Amino acid sequence: MNNLLLAALASSASAVRLFATNYAPPNSALGSITTLDFAPGLGYGDNSATLKPVSANQECGSAPTWLDRTQGGDLIYCVDEGWQTPKASLNTLRISPDGSLKRIAQLDTVQGPVSTQFYNKGAAVAMAHYGGSAITTYKLSADKTTFTPLEVFTFSTPPGPRPEQEASHPHHAVLDPTGRFLIFPDLGSDVVRVYGIDPKTSLLKEHESLKAKPAYGPRHAVFWSPGRKNTNTTTFLFVVNELSNRLTSYRVTYPRDGAGGLGFTELQDVGLYGDRTTPPGSRAAEIAVSPDNEFIVTSNRNATVFTIANPDPKNATKIGSDSLTVFKPAADGRVRFVQLAPSGGSFPRHFSFNRDGTLVAVGNQNSFTVDIWRRNPRSGKLGERVASAVGLPGQVNNVVWDEK
Ligand SMILES: *[C@@H]1O[C@H](CO)[C@@H](O)[C@H](O)[C@H]1NC(C)=O
Ligand SMILES: *[C@@H]1O[C@H](CO)[C@@H](O)[C@H](O)[C@H]1NC(C)=O
Ligand SMILES: *[C@@H]1O[C@H](CO)[C@@H](O)[C@H](O)[C@H]1NC(C)=O
Repeated sequence: MNNLLLAALASSASAVRLFATNYAPPNSALGSITTLDFAPGLGYGDNSATLKPVSANQECGSAPTWLDRTQGGDLIYCVDEGWQTPKASLNTLRISPDGSLKRIAQLDTVQGPVSTQFYNKGAAVAMAHYGGSAITTYKLSADKTTFTPLEVFTFSTPPGPRPEQEASHPHHAVLDPTGRFLIFPDLGSDVVRVYGIDPKTSLLKEHESLKAKPAYGPRHAVFWSPGRKNTNTTTFLFVVNELSNRLTSYRVTYPRDGAGGLGFTELQDVGLYGDRTTPPGSRAAEIAVSPDNEFIVTSNRNATVFTIANPDPKNATKIGSDSLTVFKPAADGRVRFVQLAPSGGSFPRHFSFNRDGTLVAVGNQNSFTVDIWRRNPRSGKLGERVASAVGLPGQVNNVVWDEK
């Protein structure tokens, strides 16, 4: 073999790291953050890729539920949803070169946090509290390790039509492309809450909410603009609704004087199963824009629509799989259905793309697995399953790639 080929093989075989959160298993008080090393193997379809747990940290409470690696360096933030314990928490952990984690700060918070979003150029972080019916904010120290509480917004809304809507349930915190607004889909209240950011103080100012349709249960959302990222063109918002299992798109308009809130015009409202009927019991979960900015992917839980090979190659018994849905958004903010693809197991609560968009890692909560699928960035379609980590120490609810 010539040197160029050897170099190519060596680089294709170099490991990439991922982190995943696991709820505490039954009869245990501690959840885990699992570090996984993914080795892509030698080539397409040769089954040589591996995904292996290399360490597990248990310093993020009983219900680790969300990881945030957006602030770079060797720091990762983990939210403990804390539904089995009196307190919830926001934790800062340091990543060692071997992938193991060590907690360096912990702050008790309002119950039930499920999402973090850093804002104001990393000066502060906002959290959505599903269990606590609240939004909270914190100032980040200069060394990015510790948090000082800023504000708490608690919501008491009349119950929505569905049993899951007995209270307000903010589920996601999302920064808009201008960095001037934060939005929070609230599953219990059928609204997306909108706040303006004061750049001097990181304090939030409440604006009029976007109203979802009754019983929709807005859960997660993404902003998107056509073309290359960060172009100042039209801005759209795509909301995935957990209870209606529908994707709703809106055109976003900005206040001319910088003083008002955001305007939203609904453009489209589509089901999450393409040309198929939405199966009973389906619970939509995650939404993300691909790194190429050309596709939007969502996940569907609690509806086994595929039968796939066992992740253990030695086991001939096939398994049931829930699904991911691929959409292609157009410049007018409307989406075209592209593909319904297997997630690799049961209850894909979260997934994320690798940096170049050639792989998608899925946390299949009720299968206790992380599954990695090949993705064609040009067609947007998901292809073969490349590797799986099975038997993880608890239900998997979040998975992030450690790539910058
Ligand atoms: C687009 O640019 C204008 C002028 O620079 C600015 O006022 C506006 O906030 C920008 N809008 C978005 C969505 O970035
Ligand atoms: C899952 O779906 C079944 C119907 O197939 C339903 O009875 C059950 O309540 C659903 N579970 C959740 C958590 O929605
Ligand atoms: C094979 O897979 C099936 C389905 O996941 C499982 O129930 C069974 O225990 C597995 N068998 C072995 C020997 O691991």
